[in-house]
Amino acid sequence: MNDRLFIFDTTLRDGEQSPGASMSKDEKLRIARQLEKLGVDVIEAGFAAASPGDADAIKAIAETIQGSTICSLARANERDIHAAGGAITPAARGNGAGGRIHTFIATSPIHMEKKLRMQPDQVVEAAVKAVKLALEYTDDVEFSAEDAVRSDMDFLVRIFDEVIKAGATTLNVPDTVGYSIPALWGERMKQLIAQVPNANQVVWSTHCHNDLGMAVANSLAAVMNGARQVECTINGLGERAGNASLEEIVMAVRTRKDIFTCDTRIDATQIVPASKLVSTITGYPVQPNKAIVGANAFAHESGIHQDGVLKHRETYEIMRAEDVGWHANRLTLGKLSGRNAFKTKLAELGIVLESDDAFNSAFASFKELADKKREIFDEDLQALVSGEGYAAEHERFKLVMLKVCSETGVVPQAQLVFSDEGAEKQASGQGSGPVDAAFKALESVVNSGAELLLYSVNNITSGTDAQGEVTVRLTHEGRVVNGQGADTDIVVASAKAYLHALNKLHNKSERAHPQV
Ligand code: KIV
Ligand code: ZN
Repeated sequence: MNDRLFIFDTTLRDGEQSPGASMSKDEKLRIARQLEKLGVDVIEAGFAAASPGDADAIKAIAETIQGSTICSLARANERDIHAAGGAITPAARGNGAGGRIHTFIATSPIHMEKKLRMQPDQVVEAAVKAVKLALEYTDDVEFSAEDAVRSDMDFLVRIFDEVIKAGATTLNVPDTVGYSIPALWGERMKQLIAQVPNANQVVWSTHCHNDLGMAVANSLAAVMNGARQVECTINGLGERAGNASLEEIVMAVRTRKDIFTCDTRIDATQIVPASKLVSTITGYPVQPNKAIVGANAFAHESGIHQDGVLKHRETYEIMRAEDVGWHANRLTLGKLSGRNAFKTKLAELGIVLESDDAFNSAFASFKELADKKREIFDEDLQALVSGEGYAAEHERFKLVMLKVCSETGVVPQAQLVFSDEGAEKQASGQGSGPVDAAFKALESVVNSGAELLLYSVNNITSGTDAQGEVTVRLTHEGRVVNGQGADTDIVVASAKAYLHALNKLHNKSERAHPQV
């Protein structure tokens, strides 16, 4: 029988470290529910010591999720371990799949000397102490040797030996800077398993970044050499060039059963819905040619390919689109659907609207959308509910009205009414296009001083009546935020996205970064 390959999803932690991808507690809960449906073994729900808000979100996930182990990251120090332990306690004590503390410390000479300013002996001591303290909260403790890729092999063997003796149950080997290549990474995993005493008492894990585009290949090489946990993210989201993408790992192992002697328990039909949800919430669009989840991944453009596929699917297709959840976005609701149907569908999607007001407002938005768009799909509802989040009472700015004039040969103009802490304000401006005019109009009143880093538009579903989903990335005083907005009118979606980003800039909260 094939071995089990554990999937450790870190979308909510490493993925959240992507610029502007920070998520609210509700957004994290929605993603966690989808990850549970997907069947991931471990959800790294965040870094509890980052802020009280981060700890609270992990705790809420630990209280809600039953089917996946809930994990918090912690640096190898007492404060972090206590914060992580407190946050995962509902999972560790409950009857769900348990709680894990993932503690780490850097082990490469460059990190120990320049970042930690610690001697190797001190690093080993801190790692052992952290593991022992973590065991007071849970018996599921993972240890990572940060920057293992540039660490000395003998030192890695020593520290892993010590943390096994201290009680760690999973040992993670990260390529923190995405520096390795598959042959070397596989060899490193093989040597560690061969040289670390009692290596067979723990699960070996790999965590690869994608700086040279080899995160998935390196992770698979580690699996071929004994790793039985892969740390990955939906859509490959993550620091810099991202992490290994979950969908590619899962489908590579499943499609090449002839090569891999292990498999995951992932329900692959939930992959595309998970990808779309993460993209909608974080504002990171998926490139069309992205493997598995890109819009073109199963589209056959050339006549020769189409002919081949029509005659015999396997001529050009190694996987079936429906097996990874394409077409899972069944027609959901329409103009005549009532409150009950809407409520039932939200529950099916794992969306919980806390108050009656939130539900009423979402239902009103749904009816408005159904008037403009004949068919409403799951993705439309996810975007719509995210829109309700943007407009939540605690948000400072909200779009009330937008009028644009765009005509060939005439300078585009925009007029807006928006509420600022409940008070209506008017704005007008000109620009090189209607979107530019709308942003300039808003800035002329808000004067945020923010710089626009990115503007992107994607359609949520197909067809010209589809909603456009806009992402606006702003930066101000060193902070980077992504704002999202969706509407069948992309200028309206753009204004909503801009205001959403301004709301995020306004809601300042101090958060520590685990690796800085
Ligand atoms: O990339 C990395 O090394 C990490 C660790 C915290 C595991 O994310
Ligand atoms: Zn990482």
